[in-house]
Parts: sequence; structure tokens; C-alpha cells
Amino acid sequence: GAILATPAVAADYPSRTITMIVPFAAGGPTDVIARIVAQHMSTTLGQAIVIENVVGAGGTTATTRAARANPDGYTIITGHMGTHAAAVPLYPKLAYDPRKDFAPVSLLAGTPILILARTDFPPKDLAEFIAYAKANGDKLNEAHAGVGSVSHVSCQLLNSVLGIKPTGVPFNGTGPAMNALVGKQVDFMCDQIVNAVPQIKGGTIKAYAIATPDRNPSLPDVPTTTEGGLPAFKAQAWNAIFAPKGTPEPVVAALNAAAVKALDDENVRKRLLDLGSVIPERSERTPEALGKLVESEIAKWTPVLKEAAAN
Ligand code: MLT
Repeated sequence: GAILATPAVAADYPSRTITMIVPFAAGGPTDVIARIVAQHMSTTLGQAIVIENVVGAGGTTATTRAARANPDGYTIITGHMGTHAAAVPLYPKLAYDPRKDFAPVSLLAGTPILILARTDFPPKDLAEFIAYAKANGDKLNEAHAGVGSVSHVSCQLLNSVLGIKPTGVPFNGTGPAMNALVGKQVDFMCDQIVNAVPQIKGGTIKAYAIATPDRNPSLPDVPTTTEGGLPAFKAQAWNAIFAPKGTPEPVVAALNAAAVKALDDENVRKRLLDLGSVIPERSERTPEALGKLVESEIAKWTPVLKEAAAN
């Protein structure tokens, strides 16, 4: 029977290619982090890890698919603060429960949020942006990666702090949303740092502030929201690996060990740090710690997003 077969299956694991679902377009923050870590995990596990970008509905289409996949360790997902927390209050008919339908594997990276704009957007710093947004808020276009995505929920918080209602322009990920910002087709965006660093350094977009208590070493010239006069706007997202609920514990343990090892690797760390991510401590990389993070993030974002929607 299935139960007796489980230890043998787990002992062989992995014996074939693993599919890692990324719930957003290629080239965006989740995709970039997933690929950096998966490449190293694949060496540890001795099997290829193929990234499959499954887009739509703020990442919830892909996350539903991952929740329903065979719990055998051959389909896993890199989800994030949106798919595994903020989507809960935003989608009343969400087809999965991040707390009940997944086996947490490991947190991969903390990703500070920045307020970004097209290069020719008039405000030149955060103080001017605040004034400009308050005067023109309803005329502005805000790019995001769909309802429940990190870019969407972090700008929901920003908009509620500023008391504005810009027009949201949804994309299948902030990879394509960033292209629209670079192309000056949209005005501003709240995005995770890994997507923003190369563009800010290349001068193709501008950054008003980083929404963390401290500046980020990868962008030493970008002031914090507190320095810029908007201390009420603070946001840092995270990306993490999940397996479907019911994945055998030894398989989860093998995946976790490979992720932990990847995050200890100097080259992986350098690539993640150069993009501004925050690498979780060892104690934050356990399945238990990730399960607790999901619980606490749902508890944290539910009232914030309900209040933002009511304003
Ligand atoms: C992405 O990879 O496109 C992002 O994580 C999207 C987002 O949640 O803003």
C-alpha cells in the first residue's frame, strides 16, 4: 500500500527531475530568487530542477496548482508573502489555505520594498512624491503584479497611508511591470528590491525610498521611508519554498537541507546580497519557522488589507 511504499520512495528521492513552480513571469523577483537557489539545490540533490512560470491572478493560479500537485517532492513552489499570506484576505474564494494545504520547506530571502517611478515622473524625492501624489493621486497609474501580489499589497498600504486611489495596472509579474515602468508607460510601483537594483543602478528608473528601518547595502544612496518623511510606510516581503501537504517528511527534509546548503554557499549569498535581499539565518530556514511565518503574516496582513480596502 501507499503507506508501506513511502519510505522506499523517500529513500530514492530524488530519482528524477523536480519541477519548481514560480507563480509569476520570468525575470521578476520570485523567478530570480528561485533560479539562484534552485541551481545550487539541484547540485546537492543530483537532479535537475526545472522552473515552470505559471502566471495569473496575483500568483494564486499557480499556487492552487501546486497545492493540488502530487505530494511526492517532484512538484514544489516558490511562493511569497502574497501567495501564502496576503491572498487569504483578498480572495474570499481562495482555492487553497496556505496554512493547511502546504508543507513548508524553507524561507529563501527577505525582500525589502521600494517606491519606484519612471525616470521622467515629476517628483524628485520622497517629500515631493508625497505632495504630488496627494494632489494628483487619482490620476496616477500604479503598476503591480495582480491582486494579492507583493507589489499590489505593499502599494495598497502606501496608498492608504497617502489617502490616494491611483489606477492599478496589473501585469503577470513585476518583471513585465518593470519593463512598463522603464518604458514610461506607468507612473510608479512598489516592488521588491531584487527586481529594482539593476534598474536603479542602470538609471532606467528612479527610487524614492526603501520601506525598511535601515538603508540597504546594495543601494546605499536610497533613503529610507522614515528619512524621507513617511515612517508609516514600512514593508518587507519574503520568498519561500513550499511542497504540497502530505509530502513525506524525509522528502521535505531533503529539500530543506538542499535549500539550507544553498543559502550557506558563498556564491549564492553574494548573488542574493548583491540584489539587496536579506538572507535568513539558519534558525529561520526550518519548515517550522516558515509555518509560523505564514501564520503570523496572515494575521498581520488581514487587518491591514481590510482597512486599506475600506478607506
Ligand atoms: C514577481 O516575481 O513578479 C513578484 O514577486 C510579483 C509581486 O508579487 O509583486
